[in-house]
Amino acid sequence: MIRTTLEAILLLPLVTALSLGCNARSSQNASATPAPAPHPEDSSGSERGLPELSTYAHRLDDPSRDQWQRPEEVVALLGCRPGMTAVDLGAGTGYFLRYLSAAVGPQGRVLALELDAGTVHLLSDRIEVEGLPNVQPILVAPDDPALRAQSVDRILIANTWHHISGREAYAAKLLAALRPGGVLMIVDFRMDSPEGPPPNRRLTRDTVMGELGSVGFEVRVLEESLPYHYIVAGQAP
Ligand SMILES: C[S@@+](CC[C@H](N)C(=O)[O-])C[C@H]1O[C@@H](n2cnc3c(N)ncnc32)[C@H](O)[C@@H]1O
Repeated sequence: MIRTTLEAILLLPLVTALSLGCNARSSQNASATPAPAPHPEDSSGSERGLPELSTYAHRLDDPSRDQWQRPEEVVALLGCRPGMTAVDLGAGTGYFLRYLSAAVGPQGRVLALELDAGTVHLLSDRIEVEGLPNVQPILVAPDDPALRAQSVDRILIANTWHHISGREAYAAKLLAALRPGGVLMIVDFRMDSPEGPPPNRRLTRDTVMGELGSVGFEVRVLEESLPYHYIVAGQAP
């Protein structure tokens, strides 16, 4: 009963947001609305150009997303092992958390970092509903992941790197937080993807590689089967 109630609470904002379909793909398919709806990342009212999560939360948890986001493949590529500490930076609604939680196992930990206090509450609810006791939601500042030096093994940044300002300085903080040999993985939208933010908000794969390489990561592109994303991995020396 508690579980059902929590699920209802969790789903309510997502269902409410369903009426706000707002990316390129949904605009193309909406025959009743000839003018494209604005993408949430075009919103000038949002802080630092960052859209309110409620305007696109429904898209993050749409079951059809699994077909192109392939969360099991993404988390497998991260190479977590039982007992590791993994970070989900910009965890959003927590789409990746159950996969990360399973990958590090009961002896491991997942730190779900978010800069929005309301989203952290949403994450707490989801963690309880999904029964993920090894996952901890943490509120962070936009320019600082607040991780202790050499304290984590894996960092996943999915669909979030392009939101971050001062990325090279931020990457240096992530490098410092990783244990030797630890891995940061950035999953972001290709320039020609029909899903994702407007093209002027996207980053090329080469840009991301340059940003990570400039602060000392050993950088490589991972082979994957995702239709809309590239994946760049940076390893701590
Ligand atoms: C597009 S969502 C992606 C959510 C999730 N990673 C996914 O793929 O489903 C981006 C999220 O990153 C968060 N975010 C953006 N910049 C951040 C930062 N500097 N630190 C922590 N979270 C951040 C936003 O609040 C938002 O929830």
